[in-house]
Amino acid sequence: MDAPPASAKLRGMIGVGIIGSGGIALANHMPGFALCPDTKVVALCDSNPAVLEKASQSTGIKNVYSDYHELLKRDDVNAVLIATPNVFHAPITLAAIAAGKHVMCEKPIAMDFPEAMKMFRAAEAANVRHMTAFTYRFGPGMRYMNHLIHRGDIGRPYHFRAQRFQDWYDRNLGWRQVKKMAATGEIGDMLSHRIDYGHILIGPIRRLVADMRRFVDSRGGQPADVDDWVSIIAEFDSEAGERAPTGVLESTKLATGRGEGHRGLDLCEVNGSEGTIAYTTQKPLELLIGKKGDPKLHRIPVPPEFLVWPGSPRDPNEGDPLATFRYDQDFEFIDAIRHHRPCWSSLRDGARVQAVIDAALVSDQEKKWVDVPRVDE
Ligand SMILES: NC(=O)c1ccc[n+]([C@@H]2O[C@H](COP(=O)([O-])OP(=O)(O)OC[C@H]3O[C@@H](n4cnc5c(N)ncnc54)[C@H](O)[C@@H]3O)[C@@H](O)[C@H]2O)c1
Repeated sequence: MDAPPASAKLRGMIGVGIIGSGGIALANHMPGFALCPDTKVVALCDSNPAVLEKASQSTGIKNVYSDYHELLKRDDVNAVLIATPNVFHAPITLAAIAAGKHVMCEKPIAMDFPEAMKMFRAAEAANVRHMTAFTYRFGPGMRYMNHLIHRGDIGRPYHFRAQRFQDWYDRNLGWRQVKKMAATGEIGDMLSHRIDYGHILIGPIRRLVADMRRFVDSRGGQPADVDDWVSIIAEFDSEAGERAPTGVLESTKLATGRGEGHRGLDLCEVNGSEGTIAYTTQKPLELLIGKKGDPKLHRIPVPPEFLVWPGSPRDPNEGDPLATFRYDQDFEFIDAIRHHRPCWSSLRDGARVQAVIDAALVSDQEKKWVDVPRVDE
């Protein structure tokens, strides 16, 4: 007999534990969970005492742990966010699932594809809700673009294009520049979100050829041993044979003059038989669109019904729209727990992206096209 759903006890308050209380946990997820009805972050964990102390002070949360196993013992923690460096995602996610907790894991979810599949399968077997924090798919413009493409507004998709260009020069990236902590550089850190865009807008990537380079070996005086530029040419799964939709994805930390973070270019474009749609995260509330015969692309606003995630109490007029859409992912996680339904961007989606990353690594090493393994339900 199936175990009772972990959500069976979740009629009242949902208690959240945060494991890894650094940058993204405080910037995106704390305000996100704060917006969720009947939800409370009840405990924090961080292996760095200074970070833990700072997080406790800024949030007022007094239940703090340096060891995540201790946090997982709490009965009032129903769900956890895992926001540590990548190397710890799998062991912590697996321990949380074994403790019966619902899990949201930051991207990239694992160090490699087999590890990602283990996480996805364990979550399914334990019947807990599971989510990958593919934050950028929650951008209002991205969701509207997804809607228009699936409605057929640009006809049959021909080309998918993603560009993530930032200027970090030789700034220190901390654990992100260390292979044994991060597994990969630009491809996992930045391109993972854009690979996910391709998957939601067009479908799974079936095969690819990739090139990855590192131009800067030392950042902030510390060695860097991961890629700082990556490019992928991809073919999406399709019955159209040689006319299957194509993808060209490029991401770099070395686009001098492009700026960092929000300021760096983050473009996604799809060209189809009837038109083109383009989206940049910098302008999350509009799209560029052109229909067959138009001399150029023109701007259209995202309609009100796409400004916030369905059901989210977030006021779209409050705060910086470049930041606030990110909170909707936490609402989605909590809402999926409440209603015992799959999360939009599951660990399966995280594993599908990991399959692409692993294939890109093989392609880069062996200088050839590589098939991407399918991730079935
Ligand atoms: N979805 C997004 O848009 C987005 C944006 C930024 C970062 N991220 C992802 O979030 C994760 C964290 O990134 P960040 O920028 O917050 O990094 P960070 O370095 O600011 O925070 C990570 C924290 O984890 C702590 N930690 C390390 N090992 C731990 C362990 N075993 N147990 C508990 N805590 C531990 C560190 O001390 C640190 O405070 C990464 O996987 C990153 O790729 C996602």
